[in-house]
Amino acid sequence: MCVMRWAAVGVLGLVVGTIAGAAAPVLSEAEVAARVEALLGRMSLDEKIGQLTQVGAFDFFPGPKPAEVIRKGGAGSVLWLNDRKQFNVLQKIAVEESPSKIPLLFGLDVIHGYQTIFPVPLAMASSWDPSVAERAQAVAAKEARAAGINWTFGPMVDIARDARWGRIVEGAGEDPFLGAAMAVAQVRGFQGPYLGAPDHVVACAKHFAGYGAADGGRDYDPVYLPEGRLRNVYFPPFEAAVKAGVGTFMSAYMDLNDVPASGNRFLLHDVLRGEWGFQGFVVSDAFAVANLVIQGFARDGRDAAFRALSAGVNMDMASNTYAQHLPGLVKDGALKAADIDAAVRPILAIKVRLGLFEQPYTDESKLAQVVALPEHRREARLAAQRSMVLLRNEGRLLPLAKSVKNMAVIGPLANSKEATEGSWMVFDHTPAAVTVVEGIRAKLPGATVEYAPGPEIRRDIPSPFEGLTDAKKAAQTPEQAEAAVKTAVATARGADVVVMVLGENADMAGEAASRASLDLPGRQEELLKAVVALGKPVVLVLLNGRPLSIVWAAENVPAILEAWEPGSEGGNAIADILFGDVNPGGKLPVTFPRKGSHAPLYYARNLTHSPEGPRYSSRYWDGPTTPLYPFGYGLSYTTFSIANLKVAVPQVKVGSPVAVTADVTNTGSVAGDEVVQLYIHQKAGSDSRPLRELKGFERLTLKPGETKTVTFSLGPTELSYWSTKVGKRVQDADAFDVWVGADSSATLHADFVVVR
Ligand code: NOJ
Repeated sequence: MCVMRWAAVGVLGLVVGTIAGAAAPVLSEAEVAARVEALLGRMSLDEKIGQLTQVGAFDFFPGPKPAEVIRKGGAGSVLWLNDRKQFNVLQKIAVEESPSKIPLLFGLDVIHGYQTIFPVPLAMASSWDPSVAERAQAVAAKEARAAGINWTFGPMVDIARDARWGRIVEGAGEDPFLGAAMAVAQVRGFQGPYLGAPDHVVACAKHFAGYGAADGGRDYDPVYLPEGRLRNVYFPPFEAAVKAGVGTFMSAYMDLNDVPASGNRFLLHDVLRGEWGFQGFVVSDAFAVANLVIQGFARDGRDAAFRALSAGVNMDMASNTYAQHLPGLVKDGALKAADIDAAVRPILAIKVRLGLFEQPYTDESKLAQVVALPEHRREARLAAQRSMVLLRNEGRLLPLAKSVKNMAVIGPLANSKEATEGSWMVFDHTPAAVTVVEGIRAKLPGATVEYAPGPEIRRDIPSPFEGLTDAKKAAQTPEQAEAAVKTAVATARGADVVVMVLGENADMAGEAASRASLDLPGRQEELLKAVVALGKPVVLVLLNGRPLSIVWAAENVPAILEAWEPGSEGGNAIADILFGDVNPGGKLPVTFPRKGSHAPLYYARNLTHSPEGPRYSSRYWDGPTTPLYPFGYGLSYTTFSIANLKVAVPQVKVGSPVAVTADVTNTGSVAGDEVVQLYIHQKAGSDSRPLRELKGFERLTLKPGETKTVTFSLGPTELSYWSTKVGKRVQDADAFDVWVGADSSATLHADFVVVR
């Protein structure tokens, strides 16, 4: 669930005790295990089942009120609470009044910031700079931990190749290689150097697995993925998160190949624990255990509890199904006491590692100091600057001269704090972003900057998670919308330069926010056309959580900046780029299709007929199926050349690495960043292989005239894949193409052969 406000629960009193902040002791595996066994030894079966239960903090959750449940030892964790006083109140009940005195985990979705909001994850992936995501999530963790949250439901590492799917905004886009790099960075950012590091939280890799491949891009709809595609495309970010030491996993909602992901032993047991050696615990998605009945999988709640636990779900998120049915299942002998112990162990181990037994409480005064840190805003501005992608810049309209006297900033998102911060706000957060209008006014204090929103945009069907957005406000009448168009055009007419800020509201991407079309919602394109018709210089700034179908703009608006949903400092970062204080260097982590009906569209597809020449160049007869903008694409205020591609040896043995180098030169007149990307194609093999696959990237900063050599290494990890024909991971002895360039359509080519 996303934007929903926390209805305050009464504060029961001041808590005295040790507080979080100082470093928890770093314990060895053996010490953790010994403490876990000691705890287990003094817990009743009911208390153990309590640890497997996450209670929801709101009234609409099934089951008794959290405080009551916690007092009896009936909960291991609380969901969706964001109130530091109440955290301490509930924690005090857990550690002083419950039978085994086990502290609680407080879990909340801190996806791209707690109070200082960073660009949405899709935007951070556009930086092609994992350190941006790592530092952002470290700030998010620090603020969240100061607020009392010790567990975040992030990162979302689902690969998303269908731009209609709303949750594409929460992940790193379409590619497993980039996705894995961003997954690792976010886990490190959230958790710090080790699980239990001070000022950090436990991370949760979600939604395992395949959630992004929903039929038709419709959120929650079933997913059908052959094993090869699961393993080669959807698993790598999850496996990378395990290697990075992620503490928890979340099982997905939907059916995967007709078996619900939250009852899927292949995923949760065979792969996650068996093959990858995951030692942490799995929480279901909210209500997903109870949903097994709705999915036509489990007969009833009891069967659902049995099947989820047997598959490998340790903790039931908020459906109360484990609490209701696990005691009976053990009593009847359907489950053994040892099964419950095995499920509880990793939950207790994480609580021990976090140091919660020593420091269960939160210093209620700490948050104010932490969120005020100026470096948090600096990091947010830097992240936003590095995340933006320049899509078009005809006639070098950008950067704009700071000497401009009369500007118009037009569009429904131009002064919207919600749209600037974007999807997935934490509960009770008041959007406080610097908007584009504010950012431009701050940049040009001497200029006249007029603003007109134009007609509003809104979802046709409201979000089930209304709250932060204006979805509840009465809709504009057609007359009001018409008047808003007229005012906006008149405002643009009086300006020397116009910045149009168009795209999607915060509630138009995210959970339950899929759409059939990728067009600019509402009357935005019509407004854009009317403003462009005035003949003024027009810059289009996009605020959005998914690729949009902007075919007309791509041909008619001279400058387009993809700013995504850039967070607290978004307006400042946009102004930095528009006026040349920062040179944009982001690249698209997703393909931009020409139309929503072309989705899913992604670069790493398999090929049948050669697309060269007119005969098979399009897969539809009613228009080109090439992307509007390819994966990896993005421009700069300078130009680059990439040359001298060299593969160290023409032949390499199976299992050995081969080095690939290329020279990158800034051929323009200002400093700038280039993301150099390496793609391979295996020419023949056990299976057909995709046309291209990203296997290396590096973001470099170059001064005018400067050249740097980038070196990539292609080893068995990059050159192997899970073969459908062979039924396991293979490295074939075959020939490879390699390209190095500035996006996925790079033409600088070499080849090499892998031999036995
Ligand atoms: C449902 C969402 O699918 C998941 O991503 C989220 O973490 C949980 N709700 C808890 O908010």
